[in-house]
Amino acid sequence: MTLLPVPRTAIVVVAAGSGTRLGGGAPKALVGIDSRSILRHALEGVFAAAPMQVVVVAPAGFEGVVETETRAAAGERADLASVVTGGETRQQSVSAGLAALWGDIDTVLVHDAARALTPAEQIDAVADAVDEHTGAIPTLPVVDTLKRVDGHAVVGGVDRSELAAAQTPQGFPRLLLEAAYRTAAETGADYTDDAALFAAAGHPVRHIDGSERAFKITTPADLERARQMLAGGRPAAAVLPRIGVGTDVHAYGGEGDLWLAGLRWPGEQALAGHSDGDAVAHAVVDALLSAAGLGDIGTHFGTAHPEYAGAHADVFLRRTVQMLADAGFVIANVSVQFQANRPRFSARREEAEGTLSAALGGAPVSLAATTTDGLGFPGRGEGVAVTAVALVVPAG
Ligand code: CTP
Ligand code: MG
Repeated sequence: MTLLPVPRTAIVVVAAGSGTRLGGGAPKALVGIDSRSILRHALEGVFAAAPMQVVVVAPAGFEGVVETETRAAAGERADLASVVTGGETRQQSVSAGLAALWGDIDTVLVHDAARALTPAEQIDAVADAVDEHTGAIPTLPVVDTLKRVDGHAVVGGVDRSELAAAQTPQGFPRLLLEAAYRTAAETGADYTDDAALFAAAGHPVRHIDGSERAFKITTPADLERARQMLAGGRPAAAVLPRIGVGTDVHAYGGEGDLWLAGLRWPGEQALAGHSDGDAVAHAVVDALLSAAGLGDIGTHFGTAHPEYAGAHADVFLRRTVQMLADAGFVIANVSVQFQANRPRFSARREEAEGTLSAALGGAPVSLAATTTDGLGFPGRGEGVAVTAVALVVPAG
């Protein structure tokens, strides 16, 4: 067994916020960026930095899952980590974290879990920049031109060379930060970050270079930015559209009227097949299922499902749209190519496209038809061949 030296530095990772602006349906730190949560990514950075005590501040009621995430990220450093419960405000959450520091700690960093992609080097650099009197924070230059406003009026400019945008972790001499926190608790003062609270107690703070990757995930657009950064600038697979192809062939020879593209074609030779033989609808269903990775038409509507015998296109298509919605997809568009001598689609193309589109919840459908110059089974008038291509996108 290797005994790690007792660290003199600690980091309090505050993850107890609710994430109101992100609206992710869970406390922000537990929302996934890719297969890993915001918290898990933040902790990967923390545990890649120099060994230090790690106190993770969890949202009340979520201590168990935060503990699991912390253990998974800590690996062999699990003994350095602990989880405490946060408070109503960020300041209260930091206080709860400070209360869990070990006696030997002399430098404490405070870090937002929401800055999930902060590089380990930034954590180490902040720790190195703290001394016994002075706090240290990472900053980025302000790039936008800034204006002073009053209501809708612009009342002046601001010299941005005097300004910098603050990030985390922010590092401080432990005893001075604790005293400053006690004072803030006594006076009820509320500060926007730890450096402001520390400076209000009369202590100096220096700044070092921050990094773009340490941006804070606040809104859904920020989460998307994090996803793109992790994917190296390429949109994550989860947000890319997906394409699918389907084909269907039916022979003429069924009873009654021809049904094709959701339309009845009086006087035309019917097609043979389970259900109404609507090869256009069947190819579209296969293209959609394939795009969403949900198998094919036989899996869901085959002869094992007698309830679909004789069913028309809208039944299949509406059920398919529902399956895609359940799997988290919306349909971008569908394109169909029909090959046969009959029926002639030209006079009813718009009607067919409109009928299919309506059954697909309004997704655009385009339909092209061709004869095969007398070649092959469509050319000999034995049946029809249809190819469909569908594009689906993950629901936003
Ligand atoms: N935080 C905390 N306890 C709170 C509030 C915030 O630990 N009571 C933490 C958040 O988890 C986050 C960091 O402080 O890591 C910065 O806060 P912010 O980005 O505002 O996160 P939320 O408060 O969760 O988001 P929102 O303000 O949109 O609700
Ligand atoms: Mg907040």
